[in-house]
Amino acid sequence: MHAPRLRLCRLDELADGEARGFDPLGHGQDSVLLVRQGARLHAYRDLCPHYGDTPMAWRRHAYLNAERSHIVCAAHGAWFEIDGGACIRGPCLGQSLTPVGVSVDTEGDVWLDSDTFNQP
Ligand code: FES
Repeated sequence: MHAPRLRLCRLDELADGEARGFDPLGHGQDSVLLVRQGARLHAYRDLCPHYGDTPMAWRRHAYLNAERSHIVCAAHGAWFEIDGGACIRGPCLGQSLTPVGVSVDTEGDVWLDSDTFNQP
């Protein structure tokens, strides 16, 4: 049995090259980050693998470096590839962000695949 999908936003609400955080379960803190690169979306848990319970952003939606080339963790400066989530700089080299599944329906709504997002 599949868990229900959770709607995150409309695709056109996220500009190309930008990132946003979401609180799909209404816990009062973003738990998913979404990055758009053209038609591609990359979604991860908002948890740094350096310390697994650490949110990534220093302020809401601030997940990318200035060049918007990498996801960064504000706590200790780790850099992650947007495509795949691998850490390429910082204290958690060799580790990766935890991906979550998202999809876009024909209406342009972005949905979180709840089966890949098991909130503790
Ligand atoms: S908690 Fe993210 S780099 Fe340390």
